[in-house]
Amino acid sequence: MNPTIAIFYGSSTGNTEMAAEKIKEELGDFVSHVADVSKCEPEEMNQYDILLLGVSTWNIGEMQDDWDAFIPRMEGLDLVGKKVGFFAMGDAGGYPYNFLDAMGQLWEVVKGLGNPELVGVWPTEGYEFDESQAMYDDDHFLGLGLDEENQSDLHDERIHAWLMKVMTDCKLLPA
Ligand SMILES: Cc1cc2nc3c(=O)[nH]c(=O)nc-3n(C[C@H](O)[C@H](O)[C@H](O)COP(=O)(O)O)c2cc1C
Repeated sequence: MNPTIAIFYGSSTGNTEMAAEKIKEELGDFVSHVADVSKCEPEEMNQYDILLLGVSTWNIGEMQDDWDAFIPRMEGLDLVGKKVGFFAMGDAGGYPYNFLDAMGQLWEVVKGLGNPELVGVWPTEGYEFDESQAMYDDDHFLGLGLDEENQSDLHDERIHAWLMKVMTDCKLLPA
């Protein structure tokens, strides 16, 4: 049986929500569930094999508000054996020293909930920023970076390529 995929996102002005909708559109029936973290229960995460988590950064390196309220409620979740991919919205021009920081902060939380497997690590090539807490290594973010303020024209191609990477990492496509 195919693994189940769910998208969970938090979004203050709708940009991450728009990315979540594009991802849902692209994956079609592969996605079983799309949830706004301001309107769902953390336990819903238990029901799916692959979790795609969407987050934006606010207030100079801070977690988006809805995730900020949701994270304490995630305590006690066991995500062992699941695969987790991140997509994140930020503004590299406005906040070059805190670009996508919340993605790194959210991974730290999620990693502590049973050490799920990270999928969809994404190259930093093509982004202009100075520092980020969302680094996987020197050349990669932990997940997809999207910049509505400066590079919105790249969303569609980035989302498409990232989903190919996620599907490959999840062994749903050949490497
Ligand atoms: C006051 C303010 C602070 C922000 N701080 C950051 C930041 O520290 N790092 C970053 O990458 N983006 C930052 N942003 C940009 C937002 O993350 C960006 O606009 C994002 O698309 C918002 O997504 P959302 O509508 O889904 O919440 C900030 C934006 C505002 C208005």
